[in-house]
Amino acid sequence: MFSPRTAAAGCGRESRVGRRRGSPARGRTATGTLWLLLLATQLPGSTCPQPEPTPPPPAACPPACECSKGARTVKCVNANLTEVPSNLPPYVRSLFITGNRIARLPAGAFPATLRELGALNLSGNGVEGVEAEAFAHLPALRALDLSRNDVSDFSAAAFGASSALAELVLRGALYNASVASQLGRALGGGALANLTRLDLARNQLIYLPEEALGALPALRHLDLSGNSLVVLGAGAFRHLPRLRSLDLSDNALRRLRGDTLRDLHPPQLALNLANNSWLCDCHLNELLDWLRGNGSALADRDQLLCLDPESLRGRRLLDLPDSLLVCSEADDLSSLQTSYVFLGIVLAFIGVIFLLVLYLNRKGIKKWMHNIRDACRDHMEGYHYRYEITADPRLTHVSSSSDV
Ligand SMILES: *[C@@H]1O[C@H](CO)[C@@H](O)[C@H](O)[C@H]1NC(C)=O
Ligand SMILES: *[C@@H]1O[C@H](CO)[C@@H](O)[C@H](O)[C@H]1NC(C)=O
Ligand SMILES: *[C@@H]1O[C@H](CO)[C@@H](O)[C@H](O)[C@H]1NC(C)=O
Ligand SMILES: *[C@@H]1O[C@H](CO)[C@@H](O)[C@H](O)[C@H]1NC(C)=O
Ligand SMILES: *[C@@H]1O[C@H](CO)[C@@H](O)[C@H](O)[C@H]1NC(C)=O
Ligand SMILES: *[C@@H]1O[C@H](CO)[C@@H](O)[C@H](O)[C@H]1NC(C)=O
Repeated sequence: MFSPRTAAAGCGRESRVGRRRGSPARGRTATGTLWLLLLATQLPGSTCPQPEPTPPPPAACPPACECSKGARTVKCVNANLTEVPSNLPPYVRSLFITGNRIARLPAGAFPATLRELGALNLSGNGVEGVEAEAFAHLPALRALDLSRNDVSDFSAAAFGASSALAELVLRGALYNASVASQLGRALGGGALANLTRLDLARNQLIYLPEEALGALPALRHLDLSGNSLVVLGAGAFRHLPRLRSLDLSDNALRRLRGDTLRDLHPPQLALNLANNSWLCDCHLNELLDWLRGNGSALADRDQLLCLDPESLRGRRLLDLPDSLLVCSEADDLSSLQTSYVFLGIVLAFIGVIFLLVLYLNRKGIKKWMHNIRDACRDHMEGYHYRYEITADPRLTHVSSSSDV
């Protein structure tokens, strides 16, 4: 006859039912065993008795949060949390922890049990430090929003060795521009090879974290608007072959060089250059050539305006005749300074040659000095002699008496 005990033995694993049968409380569990037996014979394909179902933990929801199991969403919004709640339910796919006061995100801030977590919103938490491995053990994470924080310390290992992340929003996330190089290392470490969207807007960046842009081969959308970029490096976007949108509006760009522009091809690339500080001088030609050539599909090319020089402020770049594109006084001044530096170098060089000539002629000069010294000595001796003669009292006496 089929008994739970033999079945359990056949499964190579002692079930709780089996243990119970062997226990002294045999009589009390007899009915339970019978019921289980019936269940086991009735369930199709069930050869092993199932262990008594351990009651699932009551769908835990941290007190400060709202959990929706159906939507697999947990929201902990404006709750003054100072750390990520530790008992988040494992079913969560979308997690919003926004408007709290979570200063640091240490390793394991998000427990490895959150295997389905795909979207994580950490906006507006006053986050200052993102530590190593902070997001490392979230295998399903696709979208991360860290906007509106004060990150001043961003670990290069924050994403671990490899991450499935596709969207990263860092809009207004950095404390100041000094964090850019750290961020460059965090994004440029090669962990984010699947990142397709990166939002770095409103971070006061004064230069591009180029290290990052070299390690994001899948990137399609890059938002750099509202920073303080003045120049872009040559070939800044060379390693982003899939780039389809690039927002550089509201920066302080003065000029764009030909070797930066060569990698930008509208209309495949939606490029926004509005609200920059274009300097309309003799160096503008590279940008103008591009705007008239490969850049002619640029959507807002007619709205690009000069900021400097003052005489051309507000003029449209594309309307300017070449005759007005002259280099400003500031540039003349700097070229004047350059020529002063050059003059200084030439003078120093002449000085060195002079000293060298002196050195090579040192024997002749020595001789010449000796001659002069001898001549002087003769001369002085002559004086000395005459002085001694006039100073000798006997001679004065003689001379005075002889005068008499
Ligand atoms: C959070 O803290 C602020 C001030 O400390 C308080 O006014 C507010 O009621 C708190 N909010 C919650 C949800 O506890
Ligand atoms: C994250 O939350 C903030 C604040 O509620 C919101 O403005 C933002 O749109 C959210 N981000 C995403 C990607 O949904
Ligand atoms: C990146 O995407 C590729 C192709 O979709 C996938 O095979 C790979 O596992 C992804 N990488 C990570 C770290 O998820
Ligand atoms: C950024 O903040 C730090 C700490 O306050 C400061 O030392 C640094 O100079 C700041 N950098 C910039 C570019 O303002
Ligand atoms: C340019 O700046 C002005 C004022 O700061 C703003 O109203 C406008 O929306 C900006 N345009 C773009 C395209 O960013
Ligand atoms: C325009 O783009 C083509 C193809 O990428 C390139 O060969 C050419 O040099 C570009 N022209 C200018 C003026 O940059």
